[in-house]
Amino acid sequence: VTAGGRVRVLLVSGSTRRASTNGAVLRTVAGLVPDGVDTTLYAGIAGLPAFTTDAGDDLPPPVLELSQAVSAADAVLFCVPEYAGTLPGSFKNALDWMVGTGDFYGKPVAWLNVAAANRGEGAIATLRLVTGYLGAVVIEHACVHVPIDRAMIGSDAIVHDSGARAQFGQVMSQIRDHVRAAGPS
Ligand SMILES: Cc1cc2nc3c(=O)[nH]c(=O)nc-3n(C[C@H](O)[C@H](O)[C@H](O)COP(=O)(O)O)c2cc1C
Repeated sequence: VTAGGRVRVLLVSGSTRRASTNGAVLRTVAGLVPDGVDTTLYAGIAGLPAFTTDAGDDLPPPVLELSQAVSAADAVLFCVPEYAGTLPGSFKNALDWMVGTGDFYGKPVAWLNVAAANRGEGAIATLRLVTGYLGAVVIEHACVHVPIDRAMIGSDAIVHDSGARAQFGQVMSQIRDHVRAAGPS
């Protein structure tokens, strides 16, 4: 939380596609923030090298950038697609890098599943498992399934469905309230 009491939320998309639904959702979320919240959109997954421990403490610059973004955030909101029943490999690679940095330890996290009804659960289950290994703290009531059809996304790459937008706004308020209730960081 900043000196002014503002809550900083890092938005992390697990997709590398330009026309990504998950990316569109997080851009939408960034435009819907409630009072007292600042967001940063992280879209650097595709620029991370394949995980290795060979680098030791000398982390590659894109990894340092992610590490600093996570470290500077009061909470992290994920929006991640499912590929072949689980997390996209490139996104899991990013989380693997974060095991050693410790940046997620004690960090409040939440996720949006925007796949169709009854889809995407394999990715979410793995995300829960891996964020558990990272020591993150799940804000359970801020983790919601809001199916987003491509028809809900405008030519401006923003979600226009009012029901979905209301749910996203509520999630951000819940994240803010959780961080504030947890006390100063
Ligand atoms: C190779 C491939 C595998 C996929 N596997 C699954 C899957 O196992 N479960 C699922 O719900 N969706 C699956 N999908 C659908 C994607 O999750 C869906 O297209 C999603 O919108 C991609 O996210 P994005 O639009 O943010 O890039 C798959 C798509 C592709 C291209």
